[in-house]
Amino acid sequence: MKKRVLSVALTAAMVASMATVPAITVQAADDELIVVGYAQVGAESDWRTANTESFKSTFTEENGYKLIFDDAQQKQENQIKAIRSFIQQDVDYIVVAPVVETGWETVLEEAKEAGIPVILSDRQMQVSDDSLYECWVGGNFIKEGETAGQWVADYLEEKGRGEEEINMVTIQGTIGASAQVGRTEGFGNIVAQHENWKMLDMQSGEFTQAKGQEVMESFLKSYDDIDVVICENDNEAFGAIDAIKAAGKTCGPEGDIIVISFDSVKAAFEAMIAGDLNATFECNPLHGPRVDEIIKKLEAGEEVEKIQYVDEAYFDTSMDLEAILAERAY
Ligand code: AHR
Repeated sequence: MKKRVLSVALTAAMVASMATVPAITVQAADDELIVVGYAQVGAESDWRTANTESFKSTFTEENGYKLIFDDAQQKQENQIKAIRSFIQQDVDYIVVAPVVETGWETVLEEAKEAGIPVILSDRQMQVSDDSLYECWVGGNFIKEGETAGQWVADYLEEKGRGEEEINMVTIQGTIGASAQVGRTEGFGNIVAQHENWKMLDMQSGEFTQAKGQEVMESFLKSYDDIDVVICENDNEAFGAIDAIKAAGKTCGPEGDIIVISFDSVKAAFEAMIAGDLNATFECNPLHGPRVDEIIKKLEAGEEVEKIQYVDEAYFDTSMDLEAILAERAY
C-alpha cells in the first residue's frame, strides 16, 4: 500500500512590535487528505442517486477525503477508463461499483501494479484472483430474489391461489450485473419449486423506468394473461405500472396483476400506498459510511472481511407503510 506523506503547513506571522509573540496558523494541506476515486455505474435509478449521495456526503474534505467521482453512464468501458485515470492521478484508494461482473482482470492488475487498493461496493466482480481487490460490501442479491419468490408463494397461498396456474414475466436489470444475475437466480430457485408457476418471458429493462415501461408494453402485447410481474428494481416497476394502466389493466393488491420489485426507495412506498405495487425487497444503497469504515481500517493496518453483506428487509401493503416511509432515509 502506498504511503501518504502527512504534512502540516505552518505559516508564521510576525507583527511589527518586537514585544509581540509570533502567531502560528495551522492549515490542513491537500496531501493530508485521503484521495478516493469512485467509479460509479451511472444515474439510472433512485437507488443509484441515493448511493451517489451517500458517497458524496461521506467522502468530504471535513471528513479527511478528496473524492474524485466518475459517472460511467452504465458503460463498462467508461468505468475502465475512469479506473485508469484514477491510477494516473495516483489516488490512495479506488472504489468500484461494477456495471457487470466480468472483464475486470486487466485493469485491476494495473491498479495492483500501481499499489492502489481497490474496494468493490454494491455489485460484485468475477475475477480468477481475488487478491486483485481488497474487499466487497453490498447486498445479497440471490437472497433478495429468494425472499421475493417466497413472498409471492406465501401471498398466492394466502389468496387461495396456491394451486392455480400462475403466469409470470420478469423485467430484468442490466444483463450481466450481479444485481440482475443474483435476483434472477434467487427468484428462479423458488420458481423451480412450483410446477404451477410459468415464467413466460424475461427481458432487460436496464434498471430504468423508461425501459421498464417499454418492456412491459411489449409483454402486454405478447401475453394476455400475466398474473405476476417481477421487476428487478423499483424504477422498472414504476414504468411497468404506467404500461399496465395505459393498457387498461389494473395492478397491486386489488388489481389484475401482482407487481413486485427490488430496492425499497421512497417512491416504491408511495406506489404501495397508492395501491399499485404489492411489495418491494430492500437493497440498501448507503455504502458511503461502510466504505469509509473499511478505508479507516486499512489505514490503521487492520484486516478487513473480504465479503461484507448488508442486512436487508422487505415491505408490503400489509404493513404500516406511512409510518415506515416517514423514517426512510432514501
Ligand atoms: O446494483 C444495485 C442495483 O442497481 C439497484 O437495484 C438498481 O436500482 C441499481 O441501478
